Amino acid sequence: MDVPKGAPDTKIVPALLAWYRREGRALPWRAPPGKLQDPYKVWLSEIMLQQTTVKAVTPRFIDFLRRWPDVDALGKAALGDVLAAWAGLGYYARARNLHACARAVSETHGGRFPDTEAGLRALPGIGAYTAAAIAAIAFGRRASPVDGNIERVLARLFAVEMPLPAAKPQIKALAERLTPAEHAGDFAQALMDLGAMVCTPRRPACGRCPVRPDCRGVAAGLADLLPYKAAKAERPTRRGAAFVAIREDGTVLLRERPPKGLLGGMLETPSTPWDERQPKEAAEVHAPLIADWTCVPGIVTHTFTHFHLELTVYRAEVGRDAKLTPAADPARCRWVAQRDLAHAALPSVMRKVLAHASGEVRATSKSRGARKRASAGPQRARRRSA
Ligand code: ADE
Repeated sequence: MDVPKGAPDTKIVPALLAWYRREGRALPWRAPPGKLQDPYKVWLSEIMLQQTTVKAVTPRFIDFLRRWPDVDALGKAALGDVLAAWAGLGYYARARNLHACARAVSETHGGRFPDTEAGLRALPGIGAYTAAAIAAIAFGRRASPVDGNIERVLARLFAVEMPLPAAKPQIKALAERLTPAEHAGDFAQALMDLGAMVCTPRRPACGRCPVRPDCRGVAAGLADLLPYKAAKAERPTRRGAAFVAIREDGTVLLRERPPKGLLGGMLETPSTPWDERQPKEAAEVHAPLIADWTCVPGIVTHTFTHFHLELTVYRAEVGRDAKLTPAADPARCRWVAQRDLAHAALPSVMRKVLAHASGEVRATSKSRGARKRASAGPQRARRRSA
């Protein structure tokens, strides 16, 4: 592997540690520089911060910690409560793994996180990055977490011109070589903060960078261009229809998704499968109950890691005695009071659907013409549910 030799690493580490002591962010999951942090706080914050910004995580972290102050408390929590508290942070497999990991630590490790990268990696939801972050920040081990931000900083610092993702092993090797034996946690967090505040994706503030004199990217005139990235495959678009049924007592019909897979265990409004093609005659075939369904103008769009989703939303007001059709999969359905929706385990896409159905959110939907009536099939057209 082509790891640059003879880099002036000796200056980079003290310069970064001194900068972190002066300028590092005070975040609710951090100990002051030079101190180790409670592994529970480090673990919880690192899981939350995967794919989510510091700004979005901060209030949620505080809320989680207030509700579940330690790993035993979180392990004893009901999964539904954890999923509900997670709602909006996305990537819900993380919340399920968070709960499984808390249980494992509480039940099989006596409430103490293992203090090695290998021990940590054996726990649910803890991959190489998170294990290294906890080992360094909570246990002071010489470990090198490398996420996208640190990758960018190191690619620039060492002028790594190989595009990502092929350059990942090279960058990881550079991180390992650079990591000091002492204060590895502060060093990792210094790289994170440098990436967030100075060595930003666009227009890096090289004039404020504590390691500018040693930056090969700056020397090569490449700092703002690196890291190069290989072209990504296009995300496909899937389409579907979502049904928002509102009962005369004000409750909304929701359904629990299967426990495994995308948004596993979360709630949804009953929906068609999400497919590359628009589901045909959605209201006739897939409606969860016999009703006078109205197609709400516009569509709800949402982007997941591997695809874009476009949902057509149908809405109906139904009587108290509304009967669910087999398409609803009644065993997984329940009527939920609207005041409880804020705390329900509803993923962002379903919050968009509900907002769209209530006419709140036009910004997330592309208008597709005037309100259109959709007959609910021959046996149910123009009929309120029985
Ligand atoms: N991103 C990932 N981990 C982080 C941390 N510990 N502090 C700030 N940003 C982060």
